[in-house]
Amino acid sequence: MILGVLNQKGGVGKTSLATNLAHTYATQGARVLLVDADPQSKSATRWSSAREIEQLFPVIGMAKPTLHKDLPAVARNYDLTIIDGAPQLAEIGRSILLASDMIVIPVQPSPYDVWSAADTVDLIREARVFKENLKAVFVVNRKIANTAIGRDVTEALAQHEIPTLKTHLVQRVVYAESAAQGLAVEEMEPDSQAAKEIRQVASEIRRAGDNYEAMLATVADTIGNPDG
Ligand SMILES: Nc1ncnc2c1ncn2[C@@H]1O[C@H](COP(=O)(O)OP(=O)(O)O)[C@@H](O)[C@H]1O
Ligand SMILES: [Mg+2]
Repeated sequence: MILGVLNQKGGVGKTSLATNLAHTYATQGARVLLVDADPQSKSATRWSSAREIEQLFPVIGMAKPTLHKDLPAVARNYDLTIIDGAPQLAEIGRSILLASDMIVIPVQPSPYDVWSAADTVDLIREARVFKENLKAVFVVNRKIANTAIGRDVTEALAQHEIPTLKTHLVQRVVYAESAAQGLAVEEMEPDSQAAKEIRQVASEIRRAGDNYEAMLATVADTIGNPDG
């Protein structure tokens, strides 16, 4: 299984999500490979270099438009490969879409971020011409604690006909604090709400792999009834 974390916008949480998901799945016993496909920031690689304790999974750099040709041979040796995507670079973005079984799109709960998610959604539509079964889900990230995400955001995400995971990741300093040491949120604050949310997102993604059609039906309901 290859999971691509993608959003054409920078700073939405791709690397935070990719590194934390990789950690969660690795601690659950999966053989995980994390692929850094962002040639400019190389954040996943830097995250891994900052780590002073044992690495739980390898992090390799593969930021090129031929990734979809080169990655499968390497990914074959792992249960799960997670690609940390690059912003803006449509060529690498397309290559990630071709390589992946499922795309996870972190999106911040503001109208601006929802509008700019349309660029990523367009790439997914394009890719589906060749890959009919390409799955995709939105994950709301950096939600302000104790707020509801606005109806406009919920409705706008549903219009893209891509399911949004039920669990939202709340804005918390532990993301930056843990990243600075090459750690996952779960390692730094294992019993925190943040760690719990990440574990829930990880299990929702697993379930989405099996029940994608049912999730899509829920999106259709949201469009019909935005309050429901
Ligand atoms: N849920 C969150 N709470 C607080 N800070 C976050 C959260 N998610 C991401 N960040 C911070 O936002 C910034 C951008 O996140 P990053 O994962 O690097 O995004 P991207 O890879 O999409 O550019 C980083 O400083 C990161 O620590
Ligand atoms: Mg990044």
